[in-house]
Amino acid sequence: MKRLCLLSLLATLLLSCSSSDQQPNRVQSPDNTLALAFRLTESGAPQYSVTRDGETVIDWSALGLICAEANLTDSFSVVSYEQSSYDDTWETVWGEERLIRDQHNELVVHLTHASGRHMDIVFRCFNDGFAFRYVFPEQEQTDLTVTNEVTEYRFTADHDAWSIPWRTEYYEGLWTKAPLSQKSDTLCSPITLELTHGGYAFVHEAALTDYPAQNFYMADGALKIYLTPWLHSDVKAYLATPFATPWRMVILTRTLPEMVASRIMLNLNEPCAIDDTSWIRPMKFIGIWWGMHMKTLTWEAGPKHGATTANMERYMRFAKDHHIDAVLAEGWNLGWETWEHFDFTTPYPDWNMDYLSALSNELGVQIIGHNETGGNAADYERDLDTIYRYHAKHGIHAIKTGYVSPIIRTRDGLQWNKGQSGVRHYRKVIETAARYHIAIDNHEPVMPTGLQRTYPNLMTQEGVRGQEWNAWSQDGGSPCDHVTILPFTRVMAGPVDYTPGVFAFENPIMPNTRVHSTLMNQLGLMVCIYSPLQMACDLPENYLKHPEAFAFIERVPCDWERSLLVDGKIGEFCIFARQQRGTDNWFLGGITDEQSREALVPLSFLPEGKTYHLCLWRDGDKADWQTNPYDYVIDQADLTSSDTLRIPMASAGGFAASLTPIAQ
Ligand code: NOJ
Repeated sequence: MKRLCLLSLLATLLLSCSSSDQQPNRVQSPDNTLALAFRLTESGAPQYSVTRDGETVIDWSALGLICAEANLTDSFSVVSYEQSSYDDTWETVWGEERLIRDQHNELVVHLTHASGRHMDIVFRCFNDGFAFRYVFPEQEQTDLTVTNEVTEYRFTADHDAWSIPWRTEYYEGLWTKAPLSQKSDTLCSPITLELTHGGYAFVHEAALTDYPAQNFYMADGALKIYLTPWLHSDVKAYLATPFATPWRMVILTRTLPEMVASRIMLNLNEPCAIDDTSWIRPMKFIGIWWGMHMKTLTWEAGPKHGATTANMERYMRFAKDHHIDAVLAEGWNLGWETWEHFDFTTPYPDWNMDYLSALSNELGVQIIGHNETGGNAADYERDLDTIYRYHAKHGIHAIKTGYVSPIIRTRDGLQWNKGQSGVRHYRKVIETAARYHIAIDNHEPVMPTGLQRTYPNLMTQEGVRGQEWNAWSQDGGSPCDHVTILPFTRVMAGPVDYTPGVFAFENPIMPNTRVHSTLMNQLGLMVCIYSPLQMACDLPENYLKHPEAFAFIERVPCDWERSLLVDGKIGEFCIFARQQRGTDNWFLGGITDEQSREALVPLSFLPEGKTYHLCLWRDGDKADWQTNPYDYVIDQADLTSSDTLRIPMASAGGFAASLTPIAQ
């Protein structure tokens, strides 16, 4: 990611404050609406509080770590305060936005502990939230064994929280809403809050690289952090100084569009560590995949084997004809019979890698590889160089990885995937893949925290109850509101490989499961659920049944200049507008829950004075996800920024649209 020299304005104001500064322990957002204060209690315990427009949002809350070597939650004294301001705009390699402004004020509190250790707490205040982290500078006593982090958020009201329980396997759960006080379970990070007095908060972490993922629990009226432990151990993290923990981050906004537009998490991550990013390409893809989940094809070899040379060639030629960049193939390699030892460099006999690699070259259609580890991260990590060299040699520059096993085997034995050891493994994968020019689509990941800024080859991740649940879930498929919750919860943490685009809703093999949506809702998802590797998951033969609807999938890009939430309500509906990167074209997507409703879309985001041609794919008058999911209409019109669209959405319906400037 390039620094934009022109826009770059680094106004660093270093104030070493001891007693002369009036409020050395406070930091405010650049627009002065948010203020964060720090203090030590009488026993030397660090605490912070946050106000917005003068009202306390977070009351004095605990900070610190309990370590085997020292209790770093009290007995501190302040050495000095240091304040600075920062304002810079950087360019993303891909994303919802091309340019991102990082404007914040920073307060560093330098502390010493009775044990002789040094710890800094770095606070940042943005206009749309705040963050802080613990930093251990280089010092004599290097090792720290963290048994607990006591960070808490003492919200001053009992806000409604959207969350999933922390034991939710692979984060593939249904998000539920309840007041914080009623959340009796431990919760995964992130959580999204609807504030009782108006506004929203998104509580998560950023830059998780060598530390356990955080979780939350409510106790003593506060939301507290619970770090994922090493398995069967009291230890949460092994640190060696110098060390910085991930950022604890809260996006705090008045409106939902502002919350969705916040880029704090990316700003808190390190700039791009890859020099040449020209090989990293956002792509739309189809795949030999949905058939396996619908049980018409198999991963393992046999009469219904999906990943055969012939099938792959058919998919690749279809992709070429329909402006799809890439094709994923699962089940191409040995090991699927037992899941005990996957071989990532040996195809099944009915898969001709050399032939398909040459075909990929000839057609200009990428192959997306698939490495399902079955949770054996240790073997995978050991062989990473060999595996990625093999894929790169065959022109494969994107791989979907998989860790189907709630507990994975890392180099440290059996571990939670979101414990420190798992986090280290995923990091190693991203860094190694970058060296071989391979992009990663990580399934069964640790929850994203914005690492894609530093390693933009980490393109998308699962960590969501995705479309596949609608193929086989015992409960019949995700409820209609599920996808209207995700943009405000899981997607806020980073791109999601949700796999939209189902075009055939009947499943004769598992008749009791069902995608709870209309065809137009599936189109809307292509815009509403952001992913720079965006899969259209259905089979070519199903797309050919609705070629005019499929035309939207052919047209919609997955890399954006600008993105905005036009309107939405968590769990009810959302409408997104996005400008295609490097063009003046805009795209719209809208989805609703089981409630049919009219979407109001003012086109005020379009440049004034320009006429645009609208092509709108919307639910037909008789559309209904249960009785008539395929009913749709295509409307066309020439419009300007002063127009407002009124678009009917059926029950679990939606719409999609392209807006193309008319040459004048
Ligand atoms: C679970 C993944 O989410 C899915 O996409 C994949 O097909 C299977 N594992 C097999 O690896």
